[in-house]
Amino acid sequence: MTATGERRGEVRPLGPADADGYCNHLMRLDAEARRMRFFEDVSEFHVLFHAGAALSDGRPVLGYVEDGEIRGACELLETDRDHHLAEAAFSVEAEWRCQGIGGLLMAAMIAEARRLGVRRIEMSCLRTNLPMQALAARFTSDLRQVGETALAVLDNSPEPSAA
Ligand SMILES: CC(C)(COP(=O)(O)OP(=O)(O)OC[C@H]1O[C@@H](n2cnc3c(N)ncnc32)[C@H](O)[C@@H]1OP(=O)(O)O)[C@@H](O)C(=O)NCCC(=O)NCCS
Repeated sequence: MTATGERRGEVRPLGPADADGYCNHLMRLDAEARRMRFFEDVSEFHVLFHAGAALSDGRPVLGYVEDGEIRGACELLETDRDHHLAEAAFSVEAEWRCQGIGGLLMAAMIAEARRLGVRRIEMSCLRTNLPMQALAARFTSDLRQVGETALAVLDNSPEPSAA
């Protein structure tokens, strides 16, 4: 962001050529954020492997890129093709949080999911992850608590065409 609050970056799809940048982004997440993102403590090797795999296995990955660096990302992973289900996972670096970047990634991901025919998007996070629940609550009112996990469900069915 500039001093006047203008955002300098953009959300764009990431591909195999962004693997190093995506890996660097995930490596910059602190231990707590990495645990929130991956649901467990993961090694640097896991992060490295994940970044390369995610950008080459065909899943949509959107990145928030500012001054050539990826500062936020969202992955959409198809979980049930027959029922058009997918799961989304987000990461925004600490100094870039609470500026609406998660919301920008969410809006772009919803549009991409709709383009791909995904009808239901699930987002799960630890129950203690209040920022993720606040982000999800801006886009869906279907928020469920399942044990230690919070699940947000976004109905992404095509809107009925106007009569
Ligand atoms: C969750 C995450 C992606 C949000 O990114 P972001 O760019 O900060 O998102 P936004 O700025 O659009 O929205 C953040 C929301 O969190 C809220 N928030 C921040 N800290 C909070 C806290 N401690 N308690 C409650 N809400 C909080 C903000 O107020 C905002 O909600 P609002 O717009 O309703 O006020 C980011 O915090 C993150 O990367 N966390 C680590 C990884 C992770 O948890 N991923 C999710 C699991 S896959």
